[in-house]
Amino acid sequence: MLRVGIAGFGFMGRMHYRCWKDIDGAEIAAICDINPNIVEDTKKGGGNIEGAEEQIDFTGIELYTDFDKMLADARLDAVSITLPTYLHPECSVKALEAGVNVLCEKPMALNAKECERMMAAAKSSGKVLQIGHCVRFWPEYAKTKEIIDSGEYGRVIAATFQRLGAAPTWSIDNWFMDEKRSGGMALDLHIHDTDYVQYLFGMPRAVRSFGAKGPSGGLIHIVTEYLYNEDTVVTAEGGWAMTPGFGFEMSFNIVMEKATIVYDLTREPMFKVCPADGEPFTPEVDEGDGYTRQTAHFAKAIKGEKIEAVTTLEQSRDSVRLVTAEKESAGKKEKVSIE
Ligand SMILES: NC(=O)c1ccc[n+]([C@@H]2O[C@H](COP(=O)([O-])OP(=O)(O)OC[C@H]3O[C@@H](n4cnc5c(N)ncnc54)[C@H](O)[C@@H]3O)[C@@H](O)[C@H]2O)c1
Repeated sequence: MLRVGIAGFGFMGRMHYRCWKDIDGAEIAAICDINPNIVEDTKKGGGNIEGAEEQIDFTGIELYTDFDKMLADARLDAVSITLPTYLHPECSVKALEAGVNVLCEKPMALNAKECERMMAAAKSSGKVLQIGHCVRFWPEYAKTKEIIDSGEYGRVIAATFQRLGAAPTWSIDNWFMDEKRSGGMALDLHIHDTDYVQYLFGMPRAVRSFGAKGPSGGLIHIVTEYLYNEDTVVTAEGGWAMTPGFGFEMSFNIVMEKATIVYDLTREPMFKVCPADGEPFTPEVDEGDGYTRQTAHFAKAIKGEKIEAVTTLEQSRDSVRLVTAEKESAGKKEKVSIE
């Protein structure tokens, strides 16, 4: 039995709890949260997307308020790091050095240097470190990557991605709104699409971003063009300044030579391929969601089973580098090259 710990039991902690519960051969042995009232406070919920478990059965789970103590006492094989972003490097490195495999939420860290510290710890420990870039595992996004790579519909002419919602106000001490702890909207939310763009098309040669700032001076809305070649337009828009009634939306339109692929949570059907010849259709996709699929992938990696290289640590670091360049571009109001 794989003994699993969850560090940080807010919105994503409850999401990882749901995913781990469904993994054969794994048991949630320990949960750590600095908040001593976590059992009561968990009932308050929070989050911007469905799926975080609401009914938690804490029976048989050891509860900790101190991460080091959990690592020392709980005899874990794996830990989900679902802590605020600024804690990802410190806690991931400690866990890896203690011989524990780590599934760490995105973004990997606040900057590329910290990402590299995590990569070095993974390498020297020989343990698995996977960053929770769940969009790569999202069934419709995974299918779209497969369709594009197949070459069946020719090359991509234009691709645009959107991720929009209200500001994340569910955290107990509002750490999301502190740029120094979360990296702000671009690193926290928009990175999902930046990472998916990188997954589909590789690293762009430059980015050109436009942004709107909120009262604290941080970006609250961003539109980026990822520059590849003259014949392709790739853009992504992210924002957390939507008013509460808007809800949360993620979507894309991908225009190819012989088909257009559309995904939009608010449309019916949500996902469709519109070929140049023939009727629009919804391709079959794998069961589950990005969170369950990434957890299953991580569990397989720990067990040494054969897995596809859906996400690498270099790519997770490069997504942090890309968003950093996007923020710089929006600030300078000019194109920023990617080395
Ligand atoms: N993959 C996704 O779709 C997605 C969605 C939302 C958030 N996230 C990421 O997940 C991470 C967590 O976000 P969240 O929404 O769950 O935040 P949250 O505020 O809801 O939860 C964080 C929890 O960590 C606890 N905590 C803080 N400091 C601690 C410490 N030193 N030791 C132990 N516990 C501590 C807090 O009490 C809180 O319960 C962030 O990195 C965020 O960017 C990912």
